[in-house]
Amino acid sequence: MRRPLVMGNWKMHGTRGSVRRLLKEIAVAGESQAAEVVVCPAFVHLQQALNLCEGTAVSVGAQDCSHMTAGAFTGEVSAEMLLDLGCRWVILGHSERRQYHGESDDLVAAKLAAALQARLLPVVCVGETQEEREAGEAEYVVSRQLRGALEAQAGLQQVVVAYEPVWAIGTGLTATPAEAQDMHAFIRAQLGEIAGADPDAMRVLYGGSVKAANAAELFGQPDIDGALVGGASLDANEFRQIVAAAGGPQ
Ligand code: 13P
Repeated sequence: MRRPLVMGNWKMHGTRGSVRRLLKEIAVAGESQAAEVVVCPAFVHLQQALNLCEGTAVSVGAQDCSHMTAGAFTGEVSAEMLLDLGCRWVILGHSERRQYHGESDDLVAAKLAAALQARLLPVVCVGETQEEREAGEAEYVVSRQLRGALEAQAGLQQVVVAYEPVWAIGTGLTATPAEAQDMHAFIRAQLGEIAGADPDAMRVLYGGSVKAANAAELFGQPDIDGALVGGASLDANEFRQIVAAAGGPQ
């Protein structure tokens, strides 16, 4: 049984005030959900988020980490630093990092190795662009990104994969549940071919304009194990409804 996982990727949003307001409603002591819940604020808000989530069922993750362990790498944050702070999770290879920061499959693989070594729980993002989908290359691209990141790594059971079609991110367009399911099944089959991975034990999340109104239908698909939520995770009410759709309070 794969426990549903709902993660909020807050991207470059928030102030100390908004982090406090949001977590007051999302991270409530004594409240537990069938789904595992994780929030990923900006680096500068991690400590505050960790403090506010203490004693609740909500975990905290970062949106990226360095592929290096330590050294003269100005502006970088290592996986060890995140673990030392108290973070459990890290998002890697998000399409915005690939697009705006030129992250290659090789770099994502190196970051994954660093995260696994530090015993962080990594979420590796994959997904095709609109042009790639229209050219019939969606599966090829997703397979390349997956294999590029995961092959030859140890400890793959800890890895979560997030399928985020680039054309669905922040656009209001969502893959239909059937389209998403097809790709999730393809991803699980690919995981089965990657040595060291047990595909039935690994969680594959969907991301791209997930909101309260479409979450239940997506989560109803057999290979969709939860969501990586962007915009809707900044609205406590929306986010709570998405978490509820993934399994509801226990
Ligand atoms: P939106 O939910 O805003 O489309 O963002 C998805 C995403 O990129 C999550 O990582």
